[in-house]
Amino acid sequence: MKKVLVLDGSTRKQGNTSILVEHFLNGAKINSEHIEHVLAKDLKIDYCNGCLRCNLIKRCSISGDDWADLSQKIAEADVLVFASPIYFHYVSAPLKKIIDRFRSLVHVQITEQAVKHTPWQKWNKDFVLLLSMGSSDEIDAQPVIDLFEYMKEVMGDENRLHVIKATRLAVIKQISKNENELSQLYTKLSIPEKLAKNDAVKNQEILKSCFDLGNKLTK
Ligand SMILES: Cc1cc2nc3c(=O)[nH]c(=O)nc-3n(C[C@H](O)[C@H](O)[C@H](O)COP(=O)(O)O)c2cc1C
Repeated sequence: MKKVLVLDGSTRKQGNTSILVEHFLNGAKINSEHIEHVLAKDLKIDYCNGCLRCNLIKRCSISGDDWADLSQKIAEADVLVFASPIYFHYVSAPLKKIIDRFRSLVHVQITEQAVKHTPWQKWNKDFVLLLSMGSSDEIDAQPVIDLFEYMKEVMGDENRLHVIKATRLAVIKQISKNENELSQLYTKLSIPEKLAKNDAVKNQEILKSCFDLGNKLTK
């Protein structure tokens, strides 16, 4: 049975990111009971302090936080989900702290040409990105996608990346609103009301894509 771990960078309750995660997990739960959903902001994760001792000791040298436990769960997961609102074209700060600690999972060697990354353990995982953003243009999520294209390679070339992006989302639960509710909201937010109809359909399609992906990756 596939193991799923969600690293959720949501910073507010009932936000759109949480709803993307909920639909992904509803799809995953059909096939798997090994599902863990952690809210990054609730973990005690210290900042990477850049000591680079991990390159020698094969683990992070920081102790006394939740990383040892979390890194064990990361190692065991078949499907690793990173969910986040887009903040200044990037992931939220609680999730970034976790991502930086991934440094301790690989050996890094500086070569004449570039750097060579070798994970301490062989990785063969599905990486999933669930991203919610305010912009109407998906380009705001591109730096995060670029990061994960890189990350999946750093962790070994057998990993796969799946991305779901949700745009034009400002208020909590917005992605679940119907056409009428969106029209009213768009009027308040000075967004052209004529967009509401298509957006309501598009948002439902995105939620279905989350469900379908959760279901597919756990088969
Ligand atoms: C500090 C901050 C920075 C943001 N930066 C961006 C951004 O660069 N691009 C964007 O499209 N939306 C940006 N947003 C909007 C959020 O990404 C958007 O509202 C998202 O849907 C919120 O997700 P949530 O409902 O899960 O909280 C920002 C919001 C905040 C609070």
